[in-house]
Order: sequence, then structure tokens, then C-alpha cells
Amino acid sequence: MNSQNKFKVVKPIGGVHGISAIFPTLKDVIDYEEKIVRLNRGYPRFVTHPFVGKIEETLKNKFHAREVLCCQTFESALFLVFDFYLKKGIKIYTDYDLCHRLIAFYNKKFKNFIKTAKTLNEADLLIINRKLREKLTDFVNIPKIGIIDAEKRELYEKFNGMDVLVFNYKEKDIGAIIFYTDIFSEINLLRRHSGFIANSRKLCPTRAFTRAQFKKHETCLKNKLGELEKVSGNDCFLFPSGMAAIFCTILSLFARNKNKIIALGSLYVDTLRILEKWPKKFGFKNNIIIYHNFENELLKVIDDSIAGIIFEIPSNPLIQVIDVEKIVSIAQQKKIPIVIDNTIATPYNFNPFDFNVDIIVHSTTKFLSGKNNHMGGCILVKNEKLKKKLNDFKNFLNLNMTFDDIKILNRNIKKFENRMKTINDNAFKVAKFLQNYETIDKVYYPFLESSSDYLLAKKYLKGGSGLLSFVFKNSSISNATYFYDNIKSPILKGPSLGSEKTLLSPYVIMAHYNDSKEKLLKLGYDFCLMRLSIGTERTEKIIDCLKYALERTK
Ligand SMILES: Cc1ncc(COP(=O)(O)O)c(C=O)c1O
Repeated sequence: MNSQNKFKVVKPIGGVHGISAIFPTLKDVIDYEEKIVRLNRGYPRFVTHPFVGKIEETLKNKFHAREVLCCQTFESALFLVFDFYLKKGIKIYTDYDLCHRLIAFYNKKFKNFIKTAKTLNEADLLIINRKLREKLTDFVNIPKIGIIDAEKRELYEKFNGMDVLVFNYKEKDIGAIIFYTDIFSEINLLRRHSGFIANSRKLCPTRAFTRAQFKKHETCLKNKLGELEKVSGNDCFLFPSGMAAIFCTILSLFARNKNKIIALGSLYVDTLRILEKWPKKFGFKNNIIIYHNFENELLKVIDDSIAGIIFEIPSNPLIQVIDVEKIVSIAQQKKIPIVIDNTIATPYNFNPFDFNVDIIVHSTTKFLSGKNNHMGGCILVKNEKLKKKLNDFKNFLNLNMTFDDIKILNRNIKKFENRMKTINDNAFKVAKFLQNYETIDKVYYPFLESSSDYLLAKKYLKGGSGLLSFVFKNSSISNATYFYDNIKSPILKGPSLGSEKTLLSPYVIMAHYNDSKEKLLKLGYDFCLMRLSIGTERTEKIIDCLKYALERTK
């Protein structure tokens, strides 16, 4: 984003570490998507939190760099830079042990994927830690990554001439990517998709803590999440974000001859982006995305090259319910692991392990937290082989949920069941209200009898959870603007979902603004689709607010 862009101050939702922010008008959303404005706050994987931004600015000045990106750990920062340059057959010269391990990791996964250069002259990419005898300026045509493992002044000078530095910022326990070339935007996107952002709570801890204290709170949370999903706490792995959990799951599943993932139904935008982007990096064919008629289409494409099958229940934003039993029975015949993102149903409404699913992922940022003030993710897995694969990758990246995020989630999760009961009831009533409103064409909520997924919802889910979407009969930006701009309290106009406060987002405009019309058609998305995440306010208040705004639509 151009630094000349107008800076707009928006109000955070969820306090200092809030994970959402109010976009007062639809024009504000569009201006953000058009990159006309820069925001002070937003969803943290999309808009850098001010605490993170401040550290990035300080490092930028210190290193005289073009840009800086902070990541949750040094290892995850290195992974992103490495991943950016990765292509099949690349010859890498490195003197850094962690890079040798990364090369071994890729070569174990995908036979002979990366070659190790013995000398600088034969390399396509240099990753350098120690001082070299050779002058790096002699290697103008190849990318050069510098590793800074300790913060010493002379090291900054030593690394002059590098394209990127990866800095182990030990004092803050994060990694920073320091850019001298114009590859910032792409790596920034990789950071968003992978969820490896530095969480604001990590940079501003409430107090110091010992390893034993960390372990105590971590174990308590893992046990609670395990209990909710009917497994042991030892089967639960914590991550700094939902996307980090999903990214690690997807990348762990890929192997030498297991090179495609099948996705069923509508998926959260960044899961979709990972599935679109990464196979190409590995030189694989595209993943397969099935939009409708899931079982039949799955039977047509399933073969031994499939690394896994992934879907959400219900899916975001079309709130589809997939026939889990049927999908599991098809996948089991080929021993293909099934991953369910249970973020939206939540364990209150659905337990995927009851149906022999292999891996459950959650963005704990959402309903499990419910307060808009925590960022995290988790994976639950029982199978020892899968567990080892995931854990090895997680440990390699040194990823975990931030200590304060663990503590906040331990607190927020206490009222989870009560919260979900109210949210289920509220959302059902709101969906019924919307379905009868004359200017609305379609409401996506599987517990409505008119929904094509009604029987599946009844079969699998205790309740419909809080997420619903709808489209207008007259689907136009002007109609969407009349509606959106006239929404008042108690509904908050901000991205994210799953909180006790009702959140409205023009989801497709926010998440798929630059997708072509053809792509939206394929995904089945109306550009002006509105997504509501219903909270625990009094139902009449939510409905009155919607009624007021809907009366202004045509
Ligand atoms: C269904 C679903 N899964 C995963 C994610 C990503 O989680 P996080 O934002 O915590 O990285 C989201 C985010 O909105 C989501 O809706």
C-alpha cells in the first residue's frame, strides 16, 4: 500500500488487542479494498496491529530498510522467505543449519526437490549467516538472504547488499523480515495466508512468565479443547492463529506422491488461497475444489494421489452442510485423511471425531473465544502418524499460541456453552425473520426448513450456530449501501465472526473484492452478499436493527 494513501482512524472492537474494527460505511470497506485508505485497525492478519507496526517501523529505521514484517517466530519468518523463493530444482547455497534442515524437510517430502550448491558460484539462491570471504556484490543476479541471529551493530553493516534479512529478534521472541528489494507485498500476503503474523499480545505481554507457568496454562487449555472435542489434551496442538493451524495441516499432508487436496464446498478465503497457491510452488497440479454434488463429484476424482480432503462445517460464507458420514466412507476406502474446520459449528453443535474424521482445526479467535480479544488456532488429531507429522512441522516453525492469548482463551472459554446456546437460538430467529423479508432473495442458514441442507443439518448439528448469510433481490452496491450504512447498535459493522456481539460484514466485497465475476459465479457468491455473525444480545434488538436498515432497501 502506498504510504501517501489517506489514513483513516476506525474504532477497534474488542479493546486494545481487539481483532476487529468498525467500518462505518460500505464506502469505507470499498476504499480499503481499493487501497485508497490505510486503516489504523482491522482484522490483524489483514491490518497490522499498531503495536506490531511500531516495532516494524523501529526496525525499518534501524536497518535502513524499505519495509519490515514481523512474524510470530524467527523460524516462521525464515520459512516464509524460503518459501517465497522456492521452486522445484532450485540450487541453494547456505551456511545456516536451520536452512539445511529446511532443505532436508522439503527433500524428504518431495524427493530431490531442492539441490544444495557446494559453492556460491553454482547457486540460484544464497542464504548466509556467517561473514564470507567472497564479496556479495559479485553475485548481483541471484537473490541473497541474510540471517541475523544476534543483534549487533556490525552485523547490520555486514549484511549490506542482501535482498532480505531474516532477523531473530530474541528480546521480543519474534522473527522480522527486513526488505531491501520490492518483494514485500508478496511475502506480506504469504504471512496473511499462513497466519504467521506476530500477535500484538506477544509484543506487549502483561507480565513475564516462566516455562512452568506457560505449561500450566497451556495444559489447561489443551485439556479443555480436548474435552470439548472428546479427545485427550495430548491430542490438541495450539497455534498463534486459525490460519497457522490450517496452513500447517495442509502443508503437512502434502507428500511426494500425495500431491492434491480436495476441498468441498465454500471455504474461508485464506484456506482457499493456500489451496490455490501452494501446489503450484511444488510443481503439482491444482488442488480440486468441488462446489456441489459432493459425493458424486468426489467419487469421480478420488485416486491415490490425494493427500487429504478438507471442508468446513457449516461452510463459510454459504453455510453449507456436507454429509460427513458419506464423505468419510468414501475417503476411508482410499485411506485419505479428512480435515474438518469446525470453527463455525463449534464443538457445542458438532463433534467431527464422532464420525471418524482424522483432523479437526479451529480458529479459536471466533466462537470458542467469543469476545473479539483473542487470536489463536488449534489442531486436534488422534492418529499417531498424523500427529507426529503435524507436531514435527509445528516444532520446526516453533509456533505456539501466545501466552496471554492462552490465558485470555482459558478465561473466555468458561462461558462457551452458555454463549453458544443463546447464539444458536438467536441466529435461528434472525434467519426466520430475514427469510420472510420482502427485499431479501435468499437466506443461507441450514436450520431453515426451506434450506436444501435442512435434513443434513438436523442429522449432524445440535444447532445452527451463529453464522448466516443473505442476498438481496435487488443485489446492487446502492442497495447494499442503504442497508449497511443504516445498521446501528447493537450490530457492529466489522470483519470476523463468532463473538457475543453481532457482527455484520459485506463478506464477498471484503474477502473477494478482486476476484473476477466468473470466479464469483463459480464459487456461487453474490458480490453484495451480507454475512451476519449473530451474538448474544436480545433477539428483538438485533431484529429491530435489521428491520430499520432493511426498510431503507429497495
Ligand atoms: C472458518 C474459518 N476458518 C479459519 C479462519 C482463520 O482463522 P484466523 O483468522 O484465526 O487465522 C477463519 C477466519 O475467519 C474462518 O472463518
